[in-house]
Amino acid sequence: MRFHVLTLFPEAFAQPLQFSIVARAVQRGQINIDVADIRDYTHDAHGTADDYQFGGGHGMVMKPEPVFEAAEAAERAQIPVILTTPQGELLTQKLVEELASSPAIAIICGHYAGVDERIAEGLATRPVSIGDYVLTGGELPAMIIIDAVTRLLPGVVGSPESVAGDSITTGLLQHPLYTRPAEFRGMTVPEVLLSGHHAEIDRWRRRKSLERTLEHRPDLLSTASLTNDDRRYLAGLGYAPPDAGQVEGRGADHAQD
Ligand code: 6GU
Repeated sequence: MRFHVLTLFPEAFAQPLQFSIVARAVQRGQINIDVADIRDYTHDAHGTADDYQFGGGHGMVMKPEPVFEAAEAAERAQIPVILTTPQGELLTQKLVEELASSPAIAIICGHYAGVDERIAEGLATRPVSIGDYVLTGGELPAMIIIDAVTRLLPGVVGSPESVAGDSITTGLLQHPLYTRPAEFRGMTVPEVLLSGHHAEIDRWRRRKSLERTLEHRPDLLSTASLTNDDRRYLAGLGYAPPDAGQVEGRGADHAQD
């Protein structure tokens, strides 16, 4: 997988991608990260990459010419061209999976007040936001996209199970994890995890996932694939599915079990 990053701040990418799993993926040749400096494609002696807004308003806007030219220099093939912007589609694991199936992606890092709309219109194919908050620029979002996509590539993360069982991929938040020591500062590891009873451990983990999801992300429960056991457990925790009226009776019996 090749990542083409187009940014006004290439130096931002030097350190953060040089440790742990992403760095190893680079070393093994599983990914390539090409970082292009948009300023190299500016047309004046000052390297002007931004300008005032037509119509007035606060904040500078990234000019279209250098971004188009940097993109054209980077790659000719038809690949997803992401534009990082708070106005984009929300980055979800589903979108990450889709991106991971492409042989290459380009990421244009928006900066300042934003980019000239013609970049969104004539160059970017996927405007992407990483969440409902505003950052100073798209460099961190680009690294987040690279990180999330990289760990899905075959052979990057040690065991495929650890990717398949991901929080979110399963539709639920992950259960708690513990390692040694079994007791730390008076806090103990739940007995069941030390029991060696795999079925019991699975049941405990599933229930913890359900509890956590209900507590922190109840919105996920309406799309998660839940067994009848799950539904009963959630009902015991006081969860009432938003569409309870429609799934009552036979509908609920036919849910995955
Ligand atoms: Cl992709 N860019 C910026 N500047 N802010 C954001 C964002 C992206 N996603 C959430 N906030």
